[in-house]
Amino acid sequence: MQDNIIQVTVVDREGIEHNLEAPTDMAMNMMEVCKSYELPVEGTCGGMALCASCHVYVLSDHELSEPSEDEENMLDQAFFVKSNSRLGCQIKITEVIDGLIVQLAPVNGE
Ligand code: FES
Repeated sequence: MQDNIIQVTVVDREGIEHNLEAPTDMAMNMMEVCKSYELPVEGTCGGMALCASCHVYVLSDHELSEPSEDEENMLDQAFFVKSNSRLGCQIKITEVIDGLIVQLAPVNGE
């Protein structure tokens, strides 16, 4: 494994798995990584926990940091929320999440 690079898997809305490499030294988050691979994640609010367009389901059993109050509030208003829902923009790319698997949540109305 290259230094400062982790592997994450994103399952898109068609069920196709994408194995992505993400740098841990660029202060990126999952929303930004998805966008950089041109996966259909809008990230409308730019990662401020204000839009829920980066809503994902965490499929692997990684221990992620607890959601902030802002994230919880946003998820309260999002559609199709499950117990493993998170905002992708609030998942920081660090070594702790190496091997993370997330699935893109459906977009509103689909
Ligand atoms: S990009 Fe808007 S909540 Fe994550």
